[in-house]
Amino acid sequence: MRVWSYNRRGQPREVLKLHETRPLPPLPRQDQVLIKVHHVGMNPSFPDIVMRMVNPWGMERIAEIEYSGAVIAAGSDTDSLFTKGRAVFGAANDQKHIWFGEGVMQDYLLLNKNEVYVVPQELKMAEAAGLSCAGQTALNMVQVTRITKGSRVFVNGASGGVGIFCVQICKAVGAYVVASCSEQSRQLVESLNPDEIVDYRVNAPLADYLAHEYQSRPFDTILDTIGIQDLYNQSPQYLTAKGIYANAGAYSGIWTTIFSAIKNYCWPTLLGGTPRKWMMIRTPLDREKMERLLQLIEAGQIKVPIDSIWDVNEGKDQIYKAYDRVLSQRAKGKVIVKLVEG
Ligand SMILES: NC(=O)c1ccc[n+]([C@@H]2O[C@H](COP(=O)([O-])OP(=O)(O)OC[C@H]3O[C@@H](n4cnc5c(N)ncnc54)[C@H](OP(=O)(O)O)[C@@H]3O)[C@@H](O)[C@H]2O)c1
Repeated sequence: MRVWSYNRRGQPREVLKLHETRPLPPLPRQDQVLIKVHHVGMNPSFPDIVMRMVNPWGMERIAEIEYSGAVIAAGSDTDSLFTKGRAVFGAANDQKHIWFGEGVMQDYLLLNKNEVYVVPQELKMAEAAGLSCAGQTALNMVQVTRITKGSRVFVNGASGGVGIFCVQICKAVGAYVVASCSEQSRQLVESLNPDEIVDYRVNAPLADYLAHEYQSRPFDTILDTIGIQDLYNQSPQYLTAKGIYANAGAYSGIWTTIFSAIKNYCWPTLLGGTPRKWMMIRTPLDREKMERLLQLIEAGQIKVPIDSIWDVNEGKDQIYKAYDRVLSQRAKGKVIVKLVEG
């Protein structure tokens, strides 16, 4: 079977390799499910952060963690719905990916039953592959900042993987949502039904624009999926005194993001720190969040907008083109790789 993996740090085009003759996984144990992978959901965190981590022992990491596919066989101690051919999806454990190299970019996949969910009828297979990571991150952002009915929320980066879900989940809980995007992404963001859209390019610098427009009607919460430090620095002008600034983005690079996080958490207001609560959002994936997302999908309150689908059966370069798109910072919704033929 085919496996796409890397064993040194670098850009996907330099380090990611296709291995075409790897052995098939063994038959599943009692609590495992063997899956034929159809699609893989791409997330910038992997090429941006994990692929760039030092890897002194040359550990092999199989790329990416979110997938959809069809059940080949399931152990006796798994959900009775996991019958042969059943459409399933989910995400492999991200810590096992980082520390042991487990990943999903391979034709067949052996997973613990806790990492497998039945694809709801509302989702196509490509869409299901793009739900788990960004969807749970967005849900976590909404939950930890306690956004509820009537909360006023600014979503920065509403057209990206996490942003598309932030807007929809905030609307599902009844919040008033102002979403940022550029003209190129307006159509997509409009389809998510925010209450207002701010064009971050036309209205640059964004912090000045928000200060001018929203000082008299400030936000209770800012969900920043991009990671713009200046937006936080100036937030007292448009975020209520008890408001929360939650950041999941790392567009400025891992080291700048870590430095900013330390500063934002530790710099006391008395010594000039920004007088607003700041949080870095890190989201361990779990069943509780996934089940909530599935409820929202089934209720028609969230959908999974797809930016592009890259079919690896059409050429070896497709995988690199998918990563180029992910790293372009221009994707509108989720980038998906298709593994299954047909
Ligand atoms: N995906 C995940 O599961 C996940 C989880 C945790 C953290 N993160 C981190 O979150 C960040 C974003 O990842 P993502 O997958 O959500 O996004 P993404 O797919 O990379 O976002 C691309 C979108 O962001 C928009 N954008 C770019 N710069 C912007 C800006 N300055 N202001 C507003 N919008 C802007 C672009 O719109 P235009 O083309 O219209 O400008 C484009 O539609 C990354 O640093 C990633 O590492 C992602």
